Amino acid sequence: MTVVRPTEAAPSRQFPKDFFWGASSAAYQIEGATETDGRGPSIWDTFTANGHIMDGSSARIACDHYHRYAEDVALMKQAGFSAYRFSLGWPRIVPAGTGAVNPKGLEFYDRLVDKILKAGIRPMACLYHWDLPQPLEDMGGWQSREIVGPFADYARIAVARLGDRVKDWYPLNEPNVVAVSGYGTADHAPGLRAGDLGILKVLHHQNLAQGAAFRAIRAERPNVRVGTICNLQPSRPENDEPLNRAAAIRWDAVWNRVALDGVLRGAIPDVLAEKMAPIVKPGDLETIRFPIDSLGINYYSRMTMRHEPGRPFDVGWGDAHCNRWTGMALPVQPDGLYDLLLELKTLYGNPEVFVAENGAAYDDVVSPDGQVHDPERVAFLKDHVAEVARALKDGCNVKGYLVWSLLDNFEWAFGLSKRFGIVRVDFDTLKRTPKDSYRWFAEVIRTGRVG
Ligand code: NOJ
Repeated sequence: MTVVRPTEAAPSRQFPKDFFWGASSAAYQIEGATETDGRGPSIWDTFTANGHIMDGSSARIACDHYHRYAEDVALMKQAGFSAYRFSLGWPRIVPAGTGAVNPKGLEFYDRLVDKILKAGIRPMACLYHWDLPQPLEDMGGWQSREIVGPFADYARIAVARLGDRVKDWYPLNEPNVVAVSGYGTADHAPGLRAGDLGILKVLHHQNLAQGAAFRAIRAERPNVRVGTICNLQPSRPENDEPLNRAAAIRWDAVWNRVALDGVLRGAIPDVLAEKMAPIVKPGDLETIRFPIDSLGINYYSRMTMRHEPGRPFDVGWGDAHCNRWTGMALPVQPDGLYDLLLELKTLYGNPEVFVAENGAAYDDVVSPDGQVHDPERVAFLKDHVAEVARALKDGCNVKGYLVWSLLDNFEWAFGLSKRFGIVRVDFDTLKRTPKDSYRWFAEVIRTGRVG
């Protein structure tokens, strides 16, 4: 995205009283119970069965949150969370993706939502965090426009059942990752390499499905809040070479702007207009644009890009010139979050936003005292929360901050080997152990202050 120069102002680190704090999660990454109570198969079950998970693990049990949700909600309460964003499993609710509804799936989310509310926490529900029912992929998945109807139906079913208690609804999580990693580079399920046009189709159809879902949700429950959750990462060129600059602009369009400009402006980025022309039908942009209540931002780092033929859109990773890295080899760039928030303010009219995910995996160890001392994660979170404080001081309309994640969980193709939690999960015993970062976060929540 266009780079906005940070101000020099010293950050004010006291947060407003109504600022919300908590964590985010995704059904497939924590629930386990993939074959329990009538859940249908998803593309991630297939991808796993086909041997694509690096450490050979699976999400069959994961954190067993399906059975241990009460303990997990108690941990949230103990830390003082005011909000919790989770996802509903589409294959749990509509096992074949379309058609019959699974009552037991809905009952699980009833129990979970009631528990969250009883703990005094605001539940924020996401409808699609990557666990596409396999039968829908067999019909073309997100590459097919036919997916729009089933998705809107599923949204209607979920909101009809839970919308009396859940007041914040987010149809999609990170449509860019779904498109690029799932249908471009084959790193994620369904593991396809569908080329640039395939990626753009997946982006466009998710936008359309989201637009249809917004309307289905509002038709069912006119008073709930709706929004979208985007992984936004400022895209910068590795250096001043014209080819690299053009690559960074192209990548910004694919990664950030198809989703953002779609929902907020009903527009397609200029650099993609020609390529997208064959897939955009009259009326599509009107369906995609929607006056959302809130924009959730998943921020992990900037993206430093360069021209690289053979990669999607001829864009590859450049040298980030960074000396601080997470355990997943991502550069640690907290000021990128500030840039992003300021850009949303200046270029998009200061919409209501919140940090829907931020966090880092590190190779945590259990110390002889039985505790997990994770100073790198504490430093990571602290530096990012401080940038949120700075953005607030500069007038950005940021309402909350959710850490990724409460629990160590199934990190997609990395399996159980990458730990993002502020609570450790022993995947043999399923024992939960709050880390130092959990205690640090609880203190930030208690005082409303970082520093
Ligand atoms: C974003 C995704 O939404 C989440 O599922 C994933 O685990 C985190 N990034 C960390 O990679």
